[in-house]
Amino acid sequence: MGIVALPSFPVVLVTVDENVMTAAAFHFYSFDPPHVMVGIRPQALTYQLILKKHEFGINIPTTEQLDIVQTCGAISGREENKFQKTGLTPNKGRVIDSVIIEECPVSLECRVVHEVQFEGSHRWFIGEVVAAQVDEQYSRDQALMFWMRQYREVGKVLLEVEKRK
Ligand SMILES: Cc1cc2nc3c(=O)[nH]c(=O)nc-3n(C[C@H](O)[C@H](O)[C@H](O)COP(=O)(O)O)c2cc1C
Repeated sequence: MGIVALPSFPVVLVTVDENVMTAAAFHFYSFDPPHVMVGIRPQALTYQLILKKHEFGINIPTTEQLDIVQTCGAISGREENKFQKTGLTPNKGRVIDSVIIEECPVSLECRVVHEVQFEGSHRWFIGEVVAAQVDEQYSRDQALMFWMRQYREVGKVLLEVEKRK
C-alpha cells in the first residue's frame, strides 16, 4: 500500500454543466501546450456530465474556502444544487459552455482531449486549457492541499532555483 505514502494533492473544484464537485486527484499534464488531468470516480454525477459535455472547469479554492470545499465533496449534485447550498456564483465560461466559479481566484476552462481507458477507482480525463482567468492578487501559497483525510496548507519555500533555459 505504498500509495498512501504519497504527499498531498492540490484541491480543486471541478465544474461541469451547472454542477460543482471537489477533487484532489488533479495535476498538470503538459505545460506546453497547457493540459491538465483530473481523476473522477464513475459514481459521481460529474463523471456522467464530463462524458456528456466533453469539457470541465478547474477552479482553485483558497484555504479560506475550506467549508465550501467540504460541502462540494460531501454532497452530490444529484441530491442538491451545490451552488445554492454554498452561495458560490456560477459564471458563464468564456469558451466552454459549463460554468466556472466567480469566488475562486483561478479558473481554467478545459476541453477533454482524452479519457484514459483504465477501469480503476478514478477515471482520468486530460483536458486542454482553452481559457484561463487568474486574479492578480493570487498567490499559490493560498492553495489548499488534501491527502488521507487531512487538509493542509502549502509548505515553506526551501530553495528557489534558476529558470531552466
Ligand atoms: C477533499 C476531497 C477530495 C476529493 N477528491 C475527489 C477526486 O479527486 N475524485 C473524485 O471522483 N471524487 C473526489 N471527492 C469526492 C467527490 O467530491 C464527491 O463524491 C462529490 O459528492 C461528487 O459530486 P457529484 O456527484 O455532484 O459529482 C473528494 C472529496 C473531498 C472532500
